[in-house]
Amino acid sequence: MKFVKSIRARLTLWYMIILGCTLVLFSALVYYQMSRSLYKSVDRKILTISEVVASSLAPHSPSVFSDIEKKLAKEVGRQPAAKFIQLMDRSGNIGSKSLNLKNKRLPVSYEALKNAANGIVTYETKEVFGEPLRIITYPVKQKGSEVRSIVQVATSLAEVRDTLRRLIFILASIVPLALIIASIGGIFLANKALKPVNEINRITKEITSKNLGLRVPQPATHDELGQLVETINGMIERLEKSFKQIQQFTADASHELKTPLTILKGEAELALRKERRPEEYRQYLESSLEEVNRLSRLVQDLLILSKADMGRLTLQKEPLNLVALTDACCEQCKFLGEGKNIQLVFNHSQEAGVWVMGDPYRLKQLFYNLIENAIKYSNNGGTVEITTGSNGQYANVSIRDEGLGISKEDIPYIFDRFYRVDKSRSREAGGTGLGLSICKWIAEAHQGKITVESEPGTGSCFTVWIPKHEPDA
Ligand SMILES: Nc1ncnc2c1ncn2[C@@H]1O[C@H](COP(=O)(O)OP(=O)(O)O)[C@@H](O)[C@H]1O
Ligand SMILES: [Mg+2]
Repeated sequence: MKFVKSIRARLTLWYMIILGCTLVLFSALVYYQMSRSLYKSVDRKILTISEVVASSLAPHSPSVFSDIEKKLAKEVGRQPAAKFIQLMDRSGNIGSKSLNLKNKRLPVSYEALKNAANGIVTYETKEVFGEPLRIITYPVKQKGSEVRSIVQVATSLAEVRDTLRRLIFILASIVPLALIIASIGGIFLANKALKPVNEINRITKEITSKNLGLRVPQPATHDELGQLVETINGMIERLEKSFKQIQQFTADASHELKTPLTILKGEAELALRKERRPEEYRQYLESSLEEVNRLSRLVQDLLILSKADMGRLTLQKEPLNLVALTDACCEQCKFLGEGKNIQLVFNHSQEAGVWVMGDPYRLKQLFYNLIENAIKYSNNGGTVEITTGSNGQYANVSIRDEGLGISKEDIPYIFDRFYRVDKSRSREAGGTGLGLSICKWIAEAHQGKITVESEPGTGSCFTVWIPKHEPDA
């Protein structure tokens, strides 16, 4: 059963079934054609003999056999073997017959006699004298198309049947022989073609999370199996990459969680070292609360990202006016800039508003994060400008600041998790390094993107692009 389950066996089996059917069909056709032509040639031969016999009949005694055998030998070439000739008058009375018939006579059917009387030639196959005979009943017409006598010529079919029997024997032995040879060839070819599969099987079995660096060796040919190997290797590579990312993320997350916990622990130990005044305890508690807030924000951000990774964060999309949404966001963010005396400027280019299909809660979170960054990485007294507009298929919101800017080398990484250009500065400002990763996820979940232009020392501009939505009139 296991053998039939292998592709190799099934291929060979199918191949043999198809080849077998073809060979049998072919043999049947050869046999049919051969037997037809053999029987036809026999019929032609006896017809020729009947014609010769008919032409040599003495006109006055039409049913008398006059030296026919000699004449035949002259006309047909030689004395035909096992040929029986019989002459009759039109009512079936035998006039004369060839010597080899001795005291026997050829059978005459009623059908043949009737046909002969009407001038029609009849061919019949009959088992006579213990052998198969082909018999022609040939009417001889003389003057005025009147049938005067009938010639019957018979010849043995034994030779024809023997030839056909030999043909069957040859065909019947060639078909299985061809099948055996073809199946050996088929198994060999299937084995050769499927050899790389064993290799693929062996290597892929070895791959675990510990050795994702392994690759299946690429076969020399770029056939279906070559493509399969390419696909498998591509898959392992993607798995390896995401595995590394997960490991990195776990390491980074533990590290990020460890820092505030260490600070909390240190502060608590310090506070408990001796008896203190209530104001001092208050101070320690306030400082601890700051760390707790940072921890809780970090955990919140981690939760959002891990839910997003698992595909469990779904968007509640509805038609939204981006102008109104960013306006509300700016109001919310105003207090962030107060400490640094930063002015928030809001431009809306389109009076009618810019509409998108989006989740208001997540989009607010996106703009809040970007505005918070713009304020956080600005110098005291700067300006943050928020512009809403649209460009072709997309609605866009850009947040421009006059702050630190980001160097060209850092820009490709700022959307990575936990990536911060200046770790200590970000930490001081309460950053987790996850804000832009979340922003990127939200933009992509809205079929949009975020682009960045930045010049160190001059400022940055983050632009969010989201497909426009035309509200129904
Ligand atoms: N407007 C900006 N100006 C300068 N640098 C920025 C700005 N926005 C983001 N960055 C840089 O990108 C990093 C990643 O941002 P983000 O993911 O929001 O983390 P966080 O704000 O918590 O540090 C920041 O640490 C900062 O270095
Ligand atoms: Mg941030």
